[in-house]
Amino acid sequence: MSLTPSRRSPQGRSLAARLGQSRVASRIEDEVRVTAADLVDSVAQARLKVATVRYKVEDEVRSKTQKFRSRVSEARAKLGDEARFIKSWIDNPSRTGSVTPSSPALARRMASFVDPALPGPVIEIGPGTGPVTEALIERGISEDRLILVEYSPEFCTLLRQRFPRATIVEGDAYALSTTLAGHLQDKAIAVVSSLPLFNQPPAMRSALAKDAFTLLVDSAPFIQFTYSVVSPVPRKGSGLKAFVSDWVLRNIPPARVWVYRQAV
Ligand SMILES: C[S@@+](CC[C@H](N)C(=O)[O-])C[C@H]1O[C@@H](n2cnc3c(N)ncnc32)[C@H](O)[C@@H]1O
Repeated sequence: MSLTPSRRSPQGRSLAARLGQSRVASRIEDEVRVTAADLVDSVAQARLKVATVRYKVEDEVRSKTQKFRSRVSEARAKLGDEARFIKSWIDNPSRTGSVTPSSPALARRMASFVDPALPGPVIEIGPGTGPVTEALIERGISEDRLILVEYSPEFCTLLRQRFPRATIVEGDAYALSTTLAGHLQDKAIAVVSSLPLFNQPPAMRSALAKDAFTLLVDSAPFIQFTYSVVSPVPRKGSGLKAFVSDWVLRNIPPARVWVYRQAV
């Protein structure tokens, strides 16, 4: 169709011009609409990115704060244990036997001689604030298999809070079978001792080991650490075979672990 200038609209503009303009206008309108939609899309994507970054930052801050808090409370607990130990040592140095709890390295070495796959309870004597107890649990002995014999009432209170599923017996480990009467249903698979044995005469140490073996299954170990260079359980005529570990240097002072079993 040809549009001649003779066909004029009432406003005096040709139809062609008006048609042409409206096509241009509608193209512009379309482009504006697409651009606006793109813009809305970009804004939404930018918002999403900002929200994702904010979430990540908040998450990181939250986890770092949590880690920091747990390190602070670990340090507080460690300091608390050191203080409790010093207090216990001041109250009764020969019973406490040390001014500081055993290091995790020494505790782990002691626990390494217990086979968690064997069924049955594990007796710990002289658990103090519980570093060896923790290592035994870490080794795979469930808390409810642990029978802890501790003389100090303060340490017993702490142990009950820390290991609520373990059996805590407040009493004298040098009278072990009497102290444990009614607490032990089955024979144990190990006795793990941190008692300061050298503060007692040899006969008493021998009697302790002899008594302990009556509570153990055959070939189960009696495990004892010492800072001394000689065996804490007298060996002559004991009928025991013994193994001694190398020095655990990451402990103050360095210590060795003795493992005794009944010779068959
Ligand atoms: C050298 S500390 C060891 C504590 C802890 N196992 C460690 O390794 O850090 C000795 C512990 O044995 C306890 N103890 C001393 N004589 C005891 C006895 N006759 N019966 C039970 N516990 C005793 C003390 O109260 C103290 O907690």
